[in-house]
Amino acid sequence: MSVSASKTIHKRYFGPLMPGVFFVPYPNAYRPPFNAPADKASDQLIDYIENTLFARIVPPEEVAAFIFEPIQGEGGYVFPLEDFFPKLRKLADKYGFLLIDDEVQAGLGRTGKWFAIEHYNTQPDIITIAKGIASGMPMGAFIAREGLMDKWPMGAHANTFGGNPVAAAAALATLELIENELMENARVVGEYYLEKLKELQKDFEEIGDVRGKGLMIGIEFVKDRETKKYYPEFRDKVVLKSFQKGVLFLGCGPSALRIAPPLIITKEHVDIAVDVLAEAIKETREEIK
Ligand SMILES: Cc1ncc(COP(=O)(O)O)c(C=O)c1O
Repeated sequence: MSVSASKTIHKRYFGPLMPGVFFVPYPNAYRPPFNAPADKASDQLIDYIENTLFARIVPPEEVAAFIFEPIQGEGGYVFPLEDFFPKLRKLADKYGFLLIDDEVQAGLGRTGKWFAIEHYNTQPDIITIAKGIASGMPMGAFIAREGLMDKWPMGAHANTFGGNPVAAAAALATLELIENELMENARVVGEYYLEKLKELQKDFEEIGDVRGKGLMIGIEFVKDRETKKYYPEFRDKVVLKSFQKGVLFLGCGPSALRIAPPLIITKEHVDIAVDVLAEAIKETREEIK
């Protein structure tokens, strides 16, 4: 709760939360922080961390870790500036803080690699995973490199349902499937999906951005491609209409639609989904005008 900045409703009436948590803007590639030009935005954000956050708000030697999503999920399927995480890694090494990579939504083969951070050539110190790890059975995991994990004394971390044998069996079977076929399927079908959506974007000016890696794909609706003004009412109608036509998409962030299908999806499924999406957008456009 303390380290999430997803929605205030999650935190409402839950305080006080853990002190000593600070936030910096996400290195959003579509809407770069500080309105900086895309090729300068990572440097500006790193500069903000070093010369504002560390100089005025928290001394760097007291920073334990940076926790981040490699690609934002609930925040709107927001993809990072390509060069940001390697720069953050350098900063972590310079000041001695850890990088905690939350792969709960993006990880485990969905993006065509085990972990989404692999697309950005960055080695985190800790990774968290859940959701896709056991195909719906309840399981989450915290993975840390040697040197960190062995600092926990035996029994320091315990809970009622941890180590549930049924969930563990489901996770082992799931990991095997991901390794043997589903990660590759996510990569191949995801590329096909993204291409089809980029084609669709040409027909609809309300689609401001289409972005994706593997089967983690976001579409952002905007009122105007120049100003990138959010268009949530358009997005909401498209999601509802698609649902009524039999395809389940889900909103995320202020104005984005997330495409996060099961990794078993085929190209034929994609064709159906994209046709439905096109129809839903057309109808929404007529209604909203
Ligand atoms: C990126 C991310 N981290 C963490 C969580 C919370 O995961 P859990 O419910 O397994 O604690 C979510 C849930 O949506 C998530 O998307």
